Formats: sequence, structure tokens, C-alpha cells
Amino acid sequence: MDFDEVIDRRGTHCMKWDMMERIYGVPSDSGIAMWVADMDFRPPDIARRALQKLIDHGIYGYFGDDRDYRSAICRWMDSRHGWRVEPDWIFTAHGLVNGTALCIDCFTSPGDGIVLFTPVYHAFARVINAAGRRIVECPLQIRNNRYEMNFAEYDRLMKGDEKMAILCSPHNPGGTVWTREELQRLAKFCTRHDLLLVSDEIHHDLVLPGRAHTPMPIADPSNRRPLDFEPPDNDDRHHEVIQYCRRALRQRNSSGRRAAKSVFEKNRSPGHIAEQFRHFLG
Ligand SMILES: Cc1ncc(COP(=O)(O)O)c(C=O)c1O
Repeated sequence: MDFDEVIDRRGTHCMKWDMMERIYGVPSDSGIAMWVADMDFRPPDIARRALQKLIDHGIYGYFGDDRDYRSAICRWMDSRHGWRVEPDWIFTAHGLVNGTALCIDCFTSPGDGIVLFTPVYHAFARVINAAGRRIVECPLQIRNNRYEMNFAEYDRLMKGDEKMAILCSPHNPGGTVWTREELQRLAKFCTRHDLLLVSDEIHHDLVLPGRAHTPMPIADPSNRRPLDFEPPDNDDRHHEVIQYCRRALRQRNSSGRRAAKSVFEKNRSPGHIAEQFRHFLG
């Protein structure tokens, strides 16, 4: 790959160059666009050749059979992080931010509190606000030039109506690679306050030498609780069905998924929320 060639992206509908003047008042012929995590070098040849093959084929219909794609992810997560992922755990969303928004929609209700460890990637706040949920800020502290979490302080900030925490791991901004111990303390904090943890690990491959990213399920493989409630059995109580499925899925294990799935199949809950659950159920 060539990181030195200067490639002019202006006039190609490129967001970071062609929208810069409109958003920030900085013309692209005098400023340098450094405001989006979007690269100006070409991908490796192998990726370009694969895309070229698709383009040359010339039919751009619905994409369906994603088994190769899923197995490539499984192989990568295993060889890179020692994380054994099953292909049917993988659900594809159109972008990380959309995936996060979908989790908020599925697993929390309007007005619920959602914990953010701030400062953090701005789009988390955007999707929380757009969904009518409440942001609960847990401020990070800088110690030894590094962001750190202070769970004693966060315990005091919790009011009891928080339902989810969104983690950025490694962290943006600051590039903090959370240690296994920090992630374990975070898992305990989430268990203490009954928070579902959503972990955005988009930057997992961008780690400097000497550091290692730990996927959240590796840091905390024990965070599984048995189902301790009875499913609703009345077909008309869609609200209860949805609540039940939310709680079942929050168990994050296969028995939770199976329980939610069987309730869904029995109750046939209508509407887009049911549709979204179906994705999670596989
Ligand atoms: C932490 C984090 N999550 C998500 C995104 C964007 O993800 P996507 O474009 O897939 O929605 C970024 C982009 O900078 C990011 O830093």
C-alpha cells in the first residue's frame, strides 16, 4: 500500500473534502480535511481486485449468501483476538452507528437512561437523543496521560432508571486500549446496576505495538445469568411480549435467545420492533 501518494478527492462527492466549507466554512483549496476518520490512501490490491471482479460481473442485485463473509469474520476474530465467534452470532447492520441505534431501540424504552463514558465518539449522543432516551454522563479522568474510569464516582451517579451502557473500546477519542482488568471492573459495574453493555469495538485493529485489544466477551466470559422469569402466554399482550423478549435477550446467552424466539413464534408480535428482534434472534 502507498501511504505517500497524494490523491485528490475533491469534486468526488467526498464528505470530508466536499462538505468541509459548507459545514465548517473552510474551503477545500486552503484547508486540510482532518475531521472524519476517512482515509485518503487506496486499499490493498487484493481488496480492489475483489471489488473489480464484482463490478465486471455487472449484475448488482440483492446480496444474500453471506456465509463466506461470516466465516472470514470468525477466522479474523479467532486469529487476531483469540475470540471464538459462531457464524450465527453475527448480525450485519448498515454501519456501527446504525447497529448501536438498533440496540437502543430494541433493548431500552423512551426515557430510559443510557450511560456514556465521556468524552466519547459524538454519534452515540446523537442516536440516544434521537431515540428519546436520556444520556447519563460518566466522565473519564485523565491519569498518566490516559483516560481512566472511576467506578466509585459512577456508582454515585446512577439513579436506578439506567438500562444500558455504551462502551467505546478502544476508546475514541484518546486511543485508550482498555485493559482486561478495567473491562472486568466495567462488567461488574454493569451487573451492579443491571445495565446491558453495548461495546463498539470498531477500532479493534488500530492498536499500537505493545498493546492488545481485549474483546468484551473475552474479558468477561462469565457474565451470563439464568432466565428467572416466566414468559407471558396471552396473545393480546404485545407490550408484555416485547418486554419479555428484551429481558430474555439481555441474558446474552443461547437459552435467552431460544426463550425469546419461542415467545415470538407463539405471539407473532406486530410492528417494526418485532422485526428488529427477529434479526437478533437469527
Ligand atoms: C467509535 C466509532 N464508532 C463508529 C464509527 C462510525 O461507524 P459507522 O460509519 O460504521 O457507522 C466511528 C467513526 O469514526 C467511531 O469512531
